[in-house]
Formats: sequence, C-alpha cells, structure tokens
Amino acid sequence: MKLVRTAAKLALEGEVGLVPTMGALHDGHRSLFRAARAENETVVASLFVNPAQFNAAADLAAYPQDEARDAEIAEAEGVDVLFAPSLDEMYPPGFSTWIDVDDAGAEGAARPGHFRGVATVCVKLFNLVRPQRAYFGQKDAQQAVVIRRVVRDLDLPLEIRVVGTVRDEDGLAFSSRNVWLSPEERALALALPRALAAGKEAYTLGADAVRATRSSFNGMQPDYVELIELGDATVLAAALRVGQTRLIDNVLLKGTLS
Ligand code: PAJ
Repeated sequence: MKLVRTAAKLALEGEVGLVPTMGALHDGHRSLFRAARAENETVVASLFVNPAQFNAAADLAAYPQDEARDAEIAEAEGVDVLFAPSLDEMYPPGFSTWIDVDDAGAEGAARPGHFRGVATVCVKLFNLVRPQRAYFGQKDAQQAVVIRRVVRDLDLPLEIRVVGTVRDEDGLAFSSRNVWLSPEERALALALPRALAAGKEAYTLGADAVRATRSSFNGMQPDYVELIELGDATVLAAALRVGQTRLIDNVLLKGTLS
C-alpha cells in the first residue's frame, strides 16, 4: 500500500474505486474497502478529518486519530493507496468555494452547514482521485442521498455505491464516535438500534414506523425520527444523544441499496 499526501503524487492506474473516510477505521469502513476491492483495479481510501463538516470545535478537536493503525487496517483490506492530505492541501489559504446543498430535515436540520462541508470535500476528493466509483455507507443514509444528488446535479462522471450498515455484536452500528461511550452509556445507546428495530417491526405489521420508533426509546428523547428515501429504498432514521456523544442510525424499511 502506498501512502500519498499530495494530489500531485496520485498516479493511479485502471478503474479506480474511492472510499472517503475520516479515519478511526472500524468494521464499517472495512466493509466499504471490500466492496471497492471487489470491483476496481485500484482502491484508494482517503483519510482526512474534514473541519468544514464539524459543527462544534470540541467535536473536531476530540475526533479520534491514529494514522498508523488506520494504515494497517487499510493495507490488510487490500487498499492500494491511502490518500492522507494535509489541511493546507485540501483548504489552501484563500479557499472560498463551496458546494451549496439543499439539506432539509434530519441531520441537515440538526447540523447546519454539515452537508455543505461534506459535499465540498467529497467533490474535491472526486476531482483529485477521479474514481469510476465511490463507496458510502448506509449508516449515513442522508449523506449518501446528498452525494448522489450532487453527482447527478453537477454531472460528475462516477457512480455512487451504498453499502449496508455493519453492526457490533450487541446491535450498535459501528461508528468512530463509539469509543467515547462509557460502558453505562453504551448500554443506554442500545436504545437507538432497538427503537429502530421496533419501528421496522411495526412497519411490517402495517403500523406507523415513526410513531412506533418514538415510543420505543424507554423515556429517552431522540433528536429526530424520520423516513429517508435513498434511491429505491426507504430507511427509518434516528439520532440520539447519549452523554456528550451523538449517535445516528437507520434501518431499511423497503427496497434495496445499490
Ligand atoms: P466516516 O465517518 O469516516 O465514514 C466513512 C464512510 O464509512 C461513510 O460512507 C460512512 O457512511 C461509512 N460507515 C461508517 N460507519 C459505518 C457502518 N457501521 N457500516 C457501514 N458503513 C459505515 O462519513 C464520513 O466519514 C465523512 O463524512 C466523509 C464522507 C469521509 C467526508 O468527510
């Protein structure tokens, strides 16, 4: 695996699959690397903690970073190139052009400017790496929706693949932010996948999925519970704050991811 820090050194061959990440790699990221490995000659993973998509300075400052560990994981999953640019490489002095996205609802409403930051960094990565395909997780369903729309609206020449959510044994979706949960908080956090599972169960019985989810949080107050259309699929999404940590998750109600 080659570690590359500047776009100028990205000499890529054949069909390229890109997996954008912010590092602190876990089994969710691994699953994206495998999906990319299965259908591209060259797999590029990017590793860049993007300040533009954080709402709180404290969240950015605390974001877990361990490049050596991330490089080992990426290499073990067959990633050919780890692109880990500096802040200056991505946002040189005077940087002032942004992808302005319509980000109503759910995470967009909860985190103003978040998707603008995500869309801008992803378009930059697409332009630097020039992949035929880029891989995103269902875990961040609304992010996948926003990126697909940017690609369509701006006629970007690549396909966006969405890979299913990977969960830990207890049902909690893998997330780089899970490391912040104390054992007690982790137990409380399980209310999120459980409430979504209850919502899905209600949906299969013909009941209102959102309402059933809301009433299954054991007295905890989710930030939101909403349905999100992701291509042909509909997912039931929710966010829950546990202590200082904000978690998001969703389950597929109908359709398939692609
Ligand atoms: P990050 O949180 O590192 O996630 C990178 C990719 O991994 C995203 O597409 C995300 O949806 C996916 N992912 C995270 N947890 C997952 C899980 N449990 N199962 C499956 N996939 C999972 O998302 C970002 O970074 C950033 O916003 C980024 C796209 C890199 C732009 O900065």
